[in-house]
Amino acid sequence: MRTQFLSLLLSAAAVVALSAVSSAQLTKDQQDQWLGAESHVAGMTGHAGAARTNYRRYCTGCHGDLGDGEGENAQWIDPKPRNFTLGIFKCRSTPTGTLPTDDDLYDTVGRGLITSNMPQWLPLTAQNRADLVAYVKHFSPRFQKEKPGESLKIPPEPEVTPDRVKAGQEVFRKVECWKCHGVEGRGNGPSADTLTDDQNRPIKPYNFHDETRFKCGTTDQDLYRIIMTGLDGTPMPSFADNIKPDEAWDLVFYLRSLQPMHSKEKDIARQLGLKPINPNAAPAAPAPQQ
Ligand code: HEC
Ligand code: HEC
Repeated sequence: MRTQFLSLLLSAAAVVALSAVSSAQLTKDQQDQWLGAESHVAGMTGHAGAARTNYRRYCTGCHGDLGDGEGENAQWIDPKPRNFTLGIFKCRSTPTGTLPTDDDLYDTVGRGLITSNMPQWLPLTAQNRADLVAYVKHFSPRFQKEKPGESLKIPPEPEVTPDRVKAGQEVFRKVECWKCHGVEGRGNGPSADTLTDDQNRPIKPYNFHDETRFKCGTTDQDLYRIIMTGLDGTPMPSFADNIKPDEAWDLVFYLRSLQPMHSKEKDIARQLGLKPINPNAAPAAPAPQQ
């Protein structure tokens, strides 16, 4: 009698739990009402409805039919494929917390995400990729309700000087990049082992001494943008409120000096005899006027 009551209670709880899940998760029918979603990139208009076949052929295996990141290959992959229904993206030109622009998504689809299983999709035509961008958007209610944030304006890149590389190291210390990325930028800071993404999965900070490129682009401008917009869904924050544009460029130069490839910044750091930062040091006193 008692156990019967208990199992009745348990199954009632299960029903409640299930309906909570299904109300959070969109059905195919609900998503289909947004099949009219469009993208506007490089003079093209992308249509979600036109991308269905290509999505099924090229993307479903990882991102899943419902765009929830639960494709049949997802179990073998780390990091996991993006869940598009959340509308949260790493590579954006827009402020943290806002939606990416169509151009951002289009660039991502063409570039892929290095050090993940997300390939480059350059073999598909530009129009196919624009359609796929619209299709990615149709999965999430966010794109039906919100506009993308405003793209970051990146000021012209100044010239690299020893002072700028040194100043960049001071920014790295001051805003505590080292807590995650480590005092030498090796991805081994005191917080590194504790970090998780927004789905509670462990995630590692980038190691600047790796040969690999960044996920969200390779140029100095890309690096500037990554620092200022952050990688949403990960612990990598946006520093737009803490770092001035000039300081962001200094930081870009310092980070370049850490990377293994040959660069002007690396030569400068060597000439300066730049030592790894000391997190406990007081800020450098201003240089005396000469
Ligand atoms: C082999 C698996 C795989 C396939 C196939 C695949 N993806 Fe991905 N995709 C991933 C993974 C893994 C990530 C997340 C990578 C990360 O977080 O670093 C991702 C992330 C993304 C993102 C989010 C990028 C961001 O800024 O957060 C987009 C957009 C995307 N994929 C689009 C596509 C499209 C469109 C297709 C089909 C043309 C596709 N993917 C096919 C694995 C795949
Ligand atoms: C709270 C921890 C944390 C702090 C603080 C932090 N980062 Fe990160 N950062 C991360 C993590 C985690 C990743 C990896 C994200 C991923 O792989 O998706 C990352 C990735 C990066 C990347 C690579 C982005 C790409 O596209 O692959 C760069 C560049 C970077 N961080 C620079 C910085 C700089 C510069 C600072 C300080 C101004 C900083 N980070 C502060 C955690 C942090």
